[in-house]
Formats: sequence, C-alpha cells, structure tokens
Amino acid sequence: MFVDAAEALLAWYDRSARTLPWRSPPGMPAADPYRVWLSEVMLQQTTVATVRAYFARFTERWPTVQALAAAADEEVMSAWAGLGYYARARNLLACARAVAAAGGRFPDTEAGLRALPGIGAYTAAAVAAIAFGRRAVVVDGNVERVVSRLFAIETPLPASRPEIAVATESLTPATRAGDFAQAMMDLGATICTPRNPACAICPLRERCAAVRTGDPARLPLKTAK
Ligand code: ADE
Repeated sequence: MFVDAAEALLAWYDRSARTLPWRSPPGMPAADPYRVWLSEVMLQQTTVATVRAYFARFTERWPTVQALAAAADEEVMSAWAGLGYYARARNLLACARAVAAAGGRFPDTEAGLRALPGIGAYTAAAVAAIAFGRRAVVVDGNVERVVSRLFAIETPLPASRPEIAVATESLTPATRAGDFAQAMMDLGATICTPRNPACAICPLRERCAAVRTGDPARLPLKTAK
C-alpha cells in the first residue's frame, strides 16, 4: 500500500509538478545543490511567491556558493531585506563560507549537511533528497498536513510529529526521494490545502484514511497555543 501510494504520487508529480526556478523537472538529473540549499533556506517561513524574486536576485548576483561566500555581510543582509528572520541570512553566509572553505562542494549526505552552520534537520533532509537523491525523510508544514490526513492521525500537532515522521518514512521510496519530497509539498500546496482540500482530484484519494472517515479538512488537529 505504501509503495503504491508513492508510485501514485510520483505519477501525479510527473504530470503536475510546479515549475520552480530552483527545481529540475520530474525524473531529470538533480538541480545544483547550491540552488537547492538557497531555495530551501529562503522557503522556511516565506511563501513560494515571495521567494521567486529573491531567489532570482541572489542567484544572478551570486551564482555560486563561492561567490556568496565572498560577499560582504552588509550586501547579503540588504539583499535579504524583506524576507525577514535575519538570523537566517547570517546562517546562510556562515554556511556558504564553511562550504567554500572546504572546497566549494556541499556534503552529499544528510549527516554531512547537518554538520554545517545553520542547517537543521529539515534543510539537511531536503537538500540530501532533492540535490543528491538520498532517501531522506522530508517533513515540512505541507507534508505534516498531507500525512496527518492520509493516516488519519488524531493526535494533535505538535505532539504528533514523531508519528508523522514514522508515517512519512514508511511512504518514502528508495528511488526518486527528491521528487517524492517535492511531490508531497506540491500536493499540500495545491490539493491537500488547509481549507477546502480538492479531494476529488487527489491522486491519493483512494488511499486516504481521512477521506474514508469523511472530513479531511478537520485534520491535522492542533493543540491550542
Ligand atoms: N517548500 C519548501 N521547499 C519546497 C520545494 N522544494 N518545492 C516546493 N515547495 C517547497
């Protein structure tokens, strides 16, 4: 059932993947790790629509990790203005400088990436999967929602995170892990949306426990803040 869900999702992604500037098309060789890393850092707490313009400006001005590493702090901080969370920009530069100092290539494993400054569990998994095709469990907010519904997880967030990680792991295929991760994100962004999910056109509809029980939009539950 799980392998089969991944297959159904990947088939959907092959037809429906969003075209994004940091992404290579479904089934194609992975995109440049620098671009994947930069986009994933920008996309934390910021929407795809906003990130597009910043990503274009950054990659035009600093096309490689070495170029970014050589930039002056103030230049990068002012290019970041508007994206918010300035700690992310400081970490971005620290990470670029660490990669450049080590020869300019990003580590190609989750553990190697995790050891870099400013790279947390999510970014390490996302870059390992998307840039290097590693089987890594990539869970962002969209994936939390998709998986909570698919498995009808009744534990509220954030307590359900370990359960969601186990469920996501069980779905993650051995190959095309990067496409799979991005397919989950696209599904969450375009079909399995917070309100009014488009279950009628969902590629996982027949496998979704929340569809069976009748009210997918109810999930995920959240502990009141
Ligand atoms: N959100 C975070 N990373 C993303 C990606 N690679 N594609 C689409 N949405 C994302």
